[in-house]
Amino acid sequence: GWTMSSYAREAVEEIRRQVGNGQVLCALSGGVDSAVAAVLVHRAVGDRLTCVFVDHGLLRKGEADRVMEAFGRGFGMKIVRVDAGGRFLARLVGVRDPEQKRKIIGEEFIRVFEEEADRLGKFDFLAQGTLYTDIIESGTKTAATIKSHHNVGGLPERMSFRLIEPLNTLFKDEVRALGTELGIPEDIVWRQPFPGPGLAIRILGEVTQERLSILREADAVVREEIRKAGLHREIWQYFAVLPDVRSVGVMGDERTYAHTIAIRAVTSRDGMTADFARIPYEVLERLSGRIVAEVPQVNRVVYDITSKPPATIEWE
Ligand code: XMP
Repeated sequence: GWTMSSYAREAVEEIRRQVGNGQVLCALSGGVDSAVAAVLVHRAVGDRLTCVFVDHGLLRKGEADRVMEAFGRGFGMKIVRVDAGGRFLARLVGVRDPEQKRKIIGEEFIRVFEEEADRLGKFDFLAQGTLYTDIIESGTKTAATIKSHHNVGGLPERMSFRLIEPLNTLFKDEVRALGTELGIPEDIVWRQPFPGPGLAIRILGEVTQERLSILREADAVVREEIRKAGLHREIWQYFAVLPDVRSVGVMGDERTYAHTIAIRAVTSRDGMTADFARIPYEVLERLSGRIVAEVPQVNRVVYDITSKPPATIEWE
């Protein structure tokens, strides 16, 4: 709309003024905030922006390639992709505690990002997709004690950049409108909130390559069916969880002893409170049918019918 196109124009001019002939670094996460910030900066300074995309190996199916396709090929941005999945998995061996997982992933993320930035040379600015609400929330810190919300992509402390935060007066819905205005594909603009530590906090217990791939396949089915059913805009978050549970089932004449997948889908306005989504039984039926058929390590699918509070949206 008119408002967002003039906002974009002014933001681009402002960034150009600020950066001058400098070099800008940006951590692309796959989320809408960093994407919109990066596209704005790219419009302003072109190839003097370098994006680093740290793939921690904990993203959903197809997500990392999608980021490269949309911003690398699509927008022609200079993106350095770091496939660091092996490093993260190595550090997560034997780790079961949710807060420990967050801490390790947050630390490793910063480490990888710093190494890459050092390797790439000299940067004067760091562009970040900080929103108005992020500033408010980190100022009050009420919910922060419940779960340490590591927003992977936070500012590495020892690095002395000047910050560019072109979204810091905007709310989420305005960022989405701006992203649409800038031509960012709708699956990215409307991406559901996804935690920085990624699938690691949707796998209860130890994170392994095998458990990651079970969860990733099941989660892909959930995303596809919810979208097909046209529920993806009204449901705030919808995803699969891999609890540390095996149970007995039967397949043909065979007894099975295999994994359970839990489906979590909630409606919410801001993630602070949430209600379990009233998904039609037919959709739930397709979900369970497809998951047990397509993910051989799974023989049971359950639906989480708790709201927040007392449960949280994520299981960890
Ligand atoms: P909970 O599970 O606390 O989640 O009800 C509320 C919202 O926050 C997201 N979430 C996270 N986001 N890092 C993040 O960036 C985290 O460690 C994290 N934990 C939860 C969750 O997906 C939901 O949108």
